[in-house]
Amino acid sequence: MPILTGKARLAGVVGWPVAHSRSPRLHGFWLERYAIDGAYVPLAVRAEDFERATRGLLAAGFAGVNVTLPHKERAFALCDEVAPAAWQAGAVNTLVFRAGRILGSNTDGVGFLAHLRAEGVDPLAGPALVIGAGGAARAIASALLTEGGRVAVTARRDAAAGALAAALPGLGVVPWAARNHALADHALVVNTTNAGMSGNPPLALDLAGASAALIVADIVYVPLETPLLSAARARGLRVIGGLGMLLHQAVAGFAAWFGVTPEVDAALYRFVADDLLAPPCA
Ligand SMILES: NC(=O)c1ccc[n+]([C@@H]2O[C@H](COP(=O)([O-])OP(=O)(O)OC[C@H]3O[C@@H](n4cnc5c(N)ncnc54)[C@H](OP(=O)(O)O)[C@@H]3O)[C@@H](O)[C@H]2O)c1
Repeated sequence: MPILTGKARLAGVVGWPVAHSRSPRLHGFWLERYAIDGAYVPLAVRAEDFERATRGLLAAGFAGVNVTLPHKERAFALCDEVAPAAWQAGAVNTLVFRAGRILGSNTDGVGFLAHLRAEGVDPLAGPALVIGAGGAARAIASALLTEGGRVAVTARRDAAAGALAAALPGLGVVPWAARNHALADHALVVNTTNAGMSGNPPLALDLAGASAALIVADIVYVPLETPLLSAARARGLRVIGGLGMLLHQAVAGFAAWFGVTPEVDAALYRFVADDLLAPPCA
């Protein structure tokens, strides 16, 4: 880390727990690359302390913070101003402190789209099927809809998919029982569930009926190659892993806090991926 001066800009990630977060490593890479007089630190804050702690960071001159579980909804309520993407996503993951005010945004959806484009995939080329109806599903579906994409959602609880569609005008619903069959009609499918994450069962999705042009994306990045991606690769389908979204969603926050729009490249990917592949510390 560069030596800090008294003018160093400060940011961090607020969560509970926060020790698993890769954001300090990711932002630390950029701070070093661009020789910025600044720091990005993990901030372990319990749910009940969130408001007090965040207002304290604002008062202490922080430039802003990322917000992760369990604070995303609480952060929304704290904002003086909320960006349209965060309204649509129903959650805030990035806070920028400016002139004593708290500005909230959600960078997950744009991060997902930016990652696809960086991989040479046009997310609007054809209909997309979002699997899952949680926070990430909402952020991704709303980002696709905002750009004029055709999007449907499917979730193991059909009622959850219906509720998401009710919140996002234009979002279609595929019944869970019809998800495998529906793959034939989609150009892109994205897993936004926890299924396939280390320690969880794989996503229950049969790719047998997919068209050869289907692009299979997973936003889970632990492991880097989920069982869904392996199954898609085995069928010769194009796959998109989840780590790139994490890297791209961080760009806007870094730019707002530190004044440099950072590049997502192979060196950054390897730096963060190496940490995911490393055995856990004792
Ligand atoms: N790559 C990135 O940058 C990035 C960003 C955000 C999130 N993520 C990852 O995305 C995943 C979801 O995050 P989130 O914040 O959206 O979580 P969330 O709000 O808790 O939503 C999880 C969704 O997954 C569904 N689900 C869980 N297990 C399932 C299974 N075995 N089969 C089918 N559906 C299942 C849940 O259904 P129920 O409601 O029925 O439980 C819910 O719809 C996490 O793994 C997270 O790490 C990655």
